Amino acid sequence: MATTTIPGTTDARLRLHRVGGGDGAPASFAADVRRGLTSTPKRLFPKYFYDALGSALFDAICRLPEYYLTRAEDEILARRADDIARAAREGFGERAPVTLVEFGSGSSTKTRRVIEALLRRQDGLTYIPVDISVSALEAGARALLESHPQLRVEAYAGDYDAALARLGERRGARGRTLALFLGSNIGNFDAGEAEDFLRRVRSVLRPGDALLVGADLKKDAGVLEAAYDDPLGVTAAFNLNLLARINRELGADFDLRSFRHVARYDGRAGRVEMHLESTRAQTARVSSLDLEISFGAGERVHTENSYKYDADDLSGLAARAGFALERTWRDAAGLFSSNLLVATSRDDAA
Ligand code: TRP
Repeated sequence: MATTTIPGTTDARLRLHRVGGGDGAPASFAADVRRGLTSTPKRLFPKYFYDALGSALFDAICRLPEYYLTRAEDEILARRADDIARAAREGFGERAPVTLVEFGSGSSTKTRRVIEALLRRQDGLTYIPVDISVSALEAGARALLESHPQLRVEAYAGDYDAALARLGERRGARGRTLALFLGSNIGNFDAGEAEDFLRRVRSVLRPGDALLVGADLKKDAGVLEAAYDDPLGVTAAFNLNLLARINRELGADFDLRSFRHVARYDGRAGRVEMHLESTRAQTARVSSLDLEISFGAGERVHTENSYKYDADDLSGLAARAGFALERTWRDAAGLFSSNLLVATSRDDAA
């Protein structure tokens, strides 16, 4: 997949590459919408939440009192960023600078803590954020560059697969790596996908490199459901924006007022399930796909799962993917965990 840099990002300290699968990939969006809405049950892929409006809505979710995840993780990073930076630089017995990679960086707000801790220990830093949203990447990178003259940003706009392929090619040139997978990003994978993803991350790292993984913890269903269905309706707007985006980009005529956001915690599966529910029988037309889709009253489109973890769920997962779970930190209220994984010497984890 060819890299194209984006015009206007010629700042010597910022390079932004489109690596495929990103929100500039209209063909795959159309194909995925067709596939998802013609399957039974209907579904849509969560990576399409994050167009410019969706990314802004997600930033708003992170400020909601009910969405405790962002604040809990930020509390951990504020207290532990120095421990994390120290751990990432230990083990090699050398003073080689660490490169910081982040999957699903969004607008990189929480990353600031880790960047500053690393810059207290080394002179310069290359930060490689990967995100599906070009707008979030660019805004985040510019804000960071403005406050940190010693920082260089090499951003990859696209999906994880495309970015991982690129990172694999350049593994030798990078030196030590600290990778971040923050928020509840891992929770959006089911068990098999999470293991597969960690294994692919492991394959672009070297033994001793570190990966910090955020994982939301299992808890009371009421707390979880409020976090994913806030009374202000921001999360509902975020979910409904998927249909709005299909209207905007694929010429569809979804009547947004006759769909509602549904978030339910399934304690047995350990996940919050997000759906869009049709409140009446209706038909929508997607003109650029020449497609008509019928919905029954109460029919749901599955849009996302958010898995919640137990304290020891992650150590088994880490081991299967070629990592050792070295440390786990929690916020004071015990809602969320940050987990430091270190790549073990098994180098065949790909
Ligand atoms: N990664 C986030 C999470 O699982 C994504 C998210 C937050 C989300 N709220 C949502 C996805 C509502 C769909 C609908 O916490």
